[in-house]
Amino acid sequence: MTDNLQRLQKVIAAAGITSRRKAEGLISSGQVYVNGKQTTELGTKVRPLVDEISINGKTIIVQPKIYLMLNKPKGYVASSRSFPNQPSVLELIKNKERIFTVGRLDKDTTGLLLLTNDGNFDEIVSHPRYQIQKKYRVGLRGKVALDSLKDIQGPIYWEGEAYNPISIKLLNFDKKENLSFAEIIVAEGKNHEVKNIFEAFGFKVITLQRISLGKLNLGSLKIGQSRPLTNKEIGELISYGKKK
Ligand code: URA
Repeated sequence: MTDNLQRLQKVIAAAGITSRRKAEGLISSGQVYVNGKQTTELGTKVRPLVDEISINGKTIIVQPKIYLMLNKPKGYVASSRSFPNQPSVLELIKNKERIFTVGRLDKDTTGLLLLTNDGNFDEIVSHPRYQIQKKYRVGLRGKVALDSLKDIQGPIYWEGEAYNPISIKLLNFDKKENLSFAEIIVAEGKNHEVKNIFEAFGFKVITLQRISLGKLNLGSLKIGQSRPLTNKEIGELISYGKKK
């Protein structure tokens, strides 16, 4: 990761000292020091946890927020709990701060996974109440007829659990792999949601990749690589929490 540079007023507000606007007042009036040097410039960028920031002689403790997108490879556990002898997605992140996965993906699922240290962000993105749509590309064993997927309306039941997919679209059949590809959009975040929906129709999911979450998509992020979310991307996801 590049140095996590953030605006001084944002860092002061994130430390819970005061609002961003009032932090600007503290800076302009000469009450803020960065590494012992008085700093009155509002646009000043600092490195939280690296630069020492003090207000009227009192050093503030900052926990910078981290938001990452990882293109999860197959075979990694996407959970903040550690499972002995099983590789964890956290091993793929160079960041040394304490972060956790937002929601979960099965070990054999690939694709878009978010990681953060912001519990509020996690709650918004993971909770079904906020209805953030997640799109998956699914490889199903054998040749699947369009008719068998077309008329999905209302809940689908599997082992006593109701599932409400938003849409399912059949894409193509790969003869060589003997796989039919489909795209499904869901928003409930239930355990094994996509696999169970297709099981209910008698289809076996062989490959599963999450390709988008809200407006976020994997883009050109290579498998096993991560990148920080932009402020715009973070803001868009957080805004779901304000809708309900
Ligand atoms: N649905 C599943 O069945 N598995 C995943 O990993 C994600 C969604």
